[in-house]
Amino acid sequence: MSETVILVENLSKKYILGHQEKEYSLRHSLAKIPTYLSHKIQNFSKGKFSKDVYKDFWALKDVSFEIKQGDRVGIIGRNGAGKSTLLKILSRITEPTNGRISIKGRVASLLEVGTGFHAELTGRENIFLNGAILGMGKAEITSKFDEIVAFAEVEKFLDTPVKRYSSGMYVRLAFAVAAHLEPEILIVDEVLAVGDVRFQQKCLGKMEEVGKEGRTVLFVSHNMSTVSHLCSRGILLESGTLHADTNAEHAISLYLDKSYSVSKELPLVDRKDRSGSGKVISSSFRVLNEQGIEENVLQSGKDYYFEIGYINKTGHSLDDIVVSLDFFDDKGVRVLLLRSNFTNNNLSINPDIGSIICALKNLPLANSFYRISIYLSHADREILDWIEDAASITVEGGDFFGTGNPGLPSYCKILTKANWSTIKT
Ligand SMILES: Nc1ncnc2c1ncn2[C@@H]1O[C@H](COP(=O)(O)OP(=O)(O)OP(=O)(O)O)[C@@H](O)[C@H]1O
Ligand SMILES: [Mg+2]
Repeated sequence: MSETVILVENLSKKYILGHQEKEYSLRHSLAKIPTYLSHKIQNFSKGKFSKDVYKDFWALKDVSFEIKQGDRVGIIGRNGAGKSTLLKILSRITEPTNGRISIKGRVASLLEVGTGFHAELTGRENIFLNGAILGMGKAEITSKFDEIVAFAEVEKFLDTPVKRYSSGMYVRLAFAVAAHLEPEILIVDEVLAVGDVRFQQKCLGKMEEVGKEGRTVLFVSHNMSTVSHLCSRGILLESGTLHADTNAEHAISLYLDKSYSVSKELPLVDRKDRSGSGKVISSSFRVLNEQGIEENVLQSGKDYYFEIGYINKTGHSLDDIVVSLDFFDDKGVRVLLLRSNFTNNNLSINPDIGSIICALKNLPLANSFYRISIYLSHADREILDWIEDAASITVEGGDFFGTGNPGLPSYCKILTKANWSTIKT
């Protein structure tokens, strides 16, 4: 039996909404938090909590589990399930309200915005600082230094304070430090989404390597194919509670099933599993056919209108709204992304309520079941509202190719017409 390296017992975390001072002072006392992160936290709270609301909110409720040396654990769950909160407690960025954790070994963590760096220090200084925090000696860090710099591709900026780094550079260096300084436990929270695709692949390769070396990895992601590739175990969180602690494949299938039932049960406006500032929220979603009649079973190749109802809580009209509809297939793979700024559609919304329409000709999806996430942002910078599995549709029948051939839905979900011919010689 391998040794237990993380023990979590009856862990709970309470936030008091509308009264965040205590949390701030803890965060600000951590000198290692970069200033842009604290701005983010402050902005987050401004958008999210009005001053007159005071209520307890349990982000984690009585969570217990045990992790053995060498486990590669995927932590999954919908928006707001408590994944990041759990990782922050394990990384000792924030404290639990009740319960306890015990950890054996050096932990390196890479949280949402890369909490491990000091903004005023240069890349070089931060590498040494992080090594020292992990309990490594100067000689040991020096021996890893070149590898870290090469991996992060930041040679030219080594003597620049990290506050001048782009977010991509910042995350590259943060990941390189966390993965190369030989922690016994590596904790990574979805930051990979920030880098470009090539760097994401490189990070996943590195995490696989770390896992193969028998070190323990905890990884939060919404990308189920990555979790399934990288992780052996899966912990599924749901509204702050531990819903399942099982092998990765089983946890993923439970997660996908769960998502399905949620989108069916609750009207969008009542959903709590959403993130973003909440200044504008999507309140309803419908698919209409060409005659304006609502449909849930769609046909490949037909024309549809996707209608997103919204509630604007700012009290004034807003320009530069960006809306995105992400379609995920039955395996959780994103197959189609409709985003208003791809086509340069400048959307302005009413000061109170209204609807946004996305007209799509020739639905290019093969017969299958799809989940749709809805994402609203302002000028593509501030996330206003993001709901995973906001709705689901079934595509059944239709004649995309005009030949009666439905394609091969179990192999490929996207349909597009191509003309085939031979060249005679
Ligand atoms: N500092 C805070 N103050 C108050 N509430 C908070 C704070 N941080 C997180 N929360 C709330 O706690 C819940 C859990 O948040 P957490 O960030 O852990 O979710 P998550 O599973 O990581 O979600 P996502 O998938 O969107 O990253 C959410 O409802 C969130 O709004
Ligand atoms: Mg999170």
